[in-house]
Amino acid sequence: MSGIVGYIGKKDAYAVLIHGLNRFEFRGYDSIGTAVLAANEFQIHKHAGRLAAYKEAVGENLPKGNIGIGHSRWATHGIANDINAHPHVSNSGRLAIVHKGIVENHASLKEQLLKEGFEFKSETDTEVLINWIEHIRNANGYNLLESIQIALNQVVGAYSLIILDRDEEAMYAVRKGAQLVIGVGEDEYIVATDSTPINAYTDQVINMEEEDVYRLVPGKEVQVLNLKNIEKTPVIEKLEEALDIIEKDGFAHFMLKEIYEQPKAIVDSYRGRLNATEAWVRLGGITEYRNKLNKASRIIFGACGTSWHAALVGEYLIEEMARIPVEVEYASEFRYRNPIIGSEDVFVAISQSGETADTIAAIELAKEKQALIYGICNTVGSTISRMSHAGSYIHAGQEIGIASTKAFTTQVVILTLMALQLADYRGHISKSQLSTILSELERIPDKIKEILKLDDRIKAIAKEYHEANNFLFLGRGANYPIALEGALKLKEISYIHAEGYPAAEMKHGPIALIDEDMPTVVLATNDSAYDKIVSNIQEVKARKGRVIAIVNEGDTVIKDIADHTIEIPATLEIFAPLLTVVPLQLLAYHIAVWRGADVDSPRNLTKSVTVE
Ligand code: G6P
Repeated sequence: MSGIVGYIGKKDAYAVLIHGLNRFEFRGYDSIGTAVLAANEFQIHKHAGRLAAYKEAVGENLPKGNIGIGHSRWATHGIANDINAHPHVSNSGRLAIVHKGIVENHASLKEQLLKEGFEFKSETDTEVLINWIEHIRNANGYNLLESIQIALNQVVGAYSLIILDRDEEAMYAVRKGAQLVIGVGEDEYIVATDSTPINAYTDQVINMEEEDVYRLVPGKEVQVLNLKNIEKTPVIEKLEEALDIIEKDGFAHFMLKEIYEQPKAIVDSYRGRLNATEAWVRLGGITEYRNKLNKASRIIFGACGTSWHAALVGEYLIEEMARIPVEVEYASEFRYRNPIIGSEDVFVAISQSGETADTIAAIELAKEKQALIYGICNTVGSTISRMSHAGSYIHAGQEIGIASTKAFTTQVVILTLMALQLADYRGHISKSQLSTILSELERIPDKIKEILKLDDRIKAIAKEYHEANNFLFLGRGANYPIALEGALKLKEISYIHAEGYPAAEMKHGPIALIDEDMPTVVLATNDSAYDKIVSNIQEVKARKGRVIAIVNEGDTVIKDIADHTIEIPATLEIFAPLLTVVPLQLLAYHIAVWRGADVDSPRNLTKSVTVE
């Protein structure tokens, strides 16, 4: 998804912008652009394509100046071409803007501007936005800070912006529904969508709050206005990230590195939150809202993509252990219905980035209806973590690969802790059961390490199947969401069509597709549905289908029927998803690599979908 970066200070602005845009390389984008300001003139370069091609197009004659803005675009309004790429400049040539997010009422604003004689070069909502600000300024003679405030009060949408005025040495930053961070260096500011472009220069940051408009001039006091006229004092915080977090550590891709990081990420996610010997689980947010959660009549999960799959596992865990009814909603569907939800319900939003637009909108709706909002996020200080009443961070560490891996497993860990803590509060679990379960959870990281040793074997299986055009993934119970996740991983990065199904549903449709060309991946660990799964495998084999089965170590039954078995350690049924997902992540990864696909930046996808 789009990323924006801005610099004002003493350094070569272009170099800082390129460094920042490099950090956005894994967000998913289709165009790059920069505007550097010097001697009251913008030097603008914008091109469709990747950063390397952009740098080549700019050539040797680099823009010079100490103020600049940059953008990596993921097209929403208008195709990916040079003209639609940001920055966009206002009609007078005075204002330049980079914009992340969308302006929903751009069509009506454009209509008014056209009547006023404004002209447009691009098809973007961004060009409308900067001209709307210019129009307000022209009409009223306000300064730019006030004009931005007034203009944006007439703009509908979720976005973050950085704006420059050709005639002043200042930078303007706006956050409304999309994260924006200000790095505060010595006589310099770096503004960016996240802290990755900033951490090489300073560890002092301001996490901008919703609807804040900042005017930044090095050496002068920061000026803040809020769109709702709330008075603000900027708070400078210390950035906690290590500088080396985004190195690949010798792995070929971030995705592979992140798959291998799962044992550590899982320990980080539960560290300090449980004690198996003393049999307790403690998520701060759950403890804080104990009374309300004890009375909760229902839990509604809202999420998108992989996080939605984690929610499905959460449904299984919470209903199984805490005995609270759960519903799992696609955030994008929930928000456009008139859902039945009230003050006795708990809305749990799951989002790795904490910035997904549909999940944010679903939270707003649930909040309006008085539900308690619980956020499960990875990114500290993200929009969702700020708008939740309570919540838990998953502590997965930064995830860069677009296909989510370690965020998924750590989300599942948090959901397990949540289910256990609620089960304990509600008296559905004995201390000895809790102790047994927690001890097993502590063994999961080592069991994942065992599975990672199967990497070469999975790579070989991937080689055999990498030319298939379709894949089917089957699972039952808690392994059903893993079938969905396995199929999603494969289609995201290899572009092979893949479907995940509850195994029994195969007979109601997908069985018609099975032949020797369509491999079926079956999650067949030794749980309560084992015999049924064996029958499903036989049904596939009877139709000449080829089967790759994920089984428990020592399985002899399926070994004789399936074409390939991948043997993983046994665990409690509730923890099966944490283990079965790992071979599927590796399978998708290796198939994509065999096909020569760009694993970390798959086409058309983006790390966080901040448009609706
Ligand atoms: C995008 C990403 C997925 C992610 C989904 C939800 O589609 O490519 O990996 O699962 O957004 O993102 P969130 O940050 O809300 O978990």
